[in-house]
Amino acid sequence: MNIYAVNITNKLDADLYEEFLSLIDDSKRAKINKFKNSDDKIRTLIADILVRSIICNKLKIFNEEIEYEYNSYGKPKLKNSKEFHFNISHSGDWVIGVVDNQPVGIDIEKISPIEYIDIAKKFFKEDEYNWLLAQKDREKLEYFYKLWTLKESYIKMMGTGLSMPLDSFSILFDTEYNISIKSNIGSERERYFKTYAIDKNYMIAVCSEKDNFIP
Ligand SMILES: CC(C)(COP(=O)(O)OP(=O)(O)OC[C@H]1O[C@@H](n2cnc3c(N)ncnc32)[C@H](O)[C@@H]1OP(=O)(O)O)[C@@H](O)C(=O)NCCC(=O)NCCS
Repeated sequence: MNIYAVNITNKLDADLYEEFLSLIDDSKRAKINKFKNSDDKIRTLIADILVRSIICNKLKIFNEEIEYEYNSYGKPKLKNSKEFHFNISHSGDWVIGVVDNQPVGIDIEKISPIEYIDIAKKFFKEDEYNWLLAQKDREKLEYFYKLWTLKESYIKMMGTGLSMPLDSFSILFDTEYNISIKSNIGSERERYFKTYAIDKNYMIAVCSEKDNFIP
């Protein structure tokens, strides 16, 4: 497994932006052109350029040869190789990606001082919510974002999007804060999780079928 992170704080030069746009496929270009917000445009563009550069480097193919296919919930996959799996996420100043030889999911969220209790009550399963409430007050916001990104990373690894109800599985922390999952639906396989903090204002979670995380 490899994880990549691109900080997009520096503004993208207009010429480079146009050059990058010319390197992606028509449908992604149309999606980017529809965004009103320039940060959305840049995050989505950089994410695709990141994936393309990794594919070209790892598989020794040309950018023009890259072909994506999508599952019915929109998860992209490389048509050129069955063994190459990737997933990307973007939020605020960061675009991140994970690649592996089996399905993976990644999520990044900017940590904002939101009223997380109501959101947790609405979206988290009861055991997750109760566990969150039991944490120290000064750590609750961080654990809210850990749960949020971990749930997203699982949904993104599975590729189901929100067709998988958020209350159909729970992310559990044991007393040592090791992470596991309890799921109601067709998931006999073990899943492994890890969170990363590359920036104190962001939370990252990765979900994999193997415990092969970089430390
Ligand atoms: C699309 C979704 C998979 C993730 O969306 P998101 O968190 O807004 O976006 P991220 O930046 O993390 O990921 C976007 C990337 O995921 C990938 N993606 C799209 N559909 C996907 C799917 N079904 N499965 C996995 N990855 C997917 C794409 O590469 C996309 O990149 P692009 O937008 O540049 O084309 C979807 O699950 C979603 O809308 N989630 C938000 C729902 C929510 O409220 N979660 C609460 C958790 S407690």
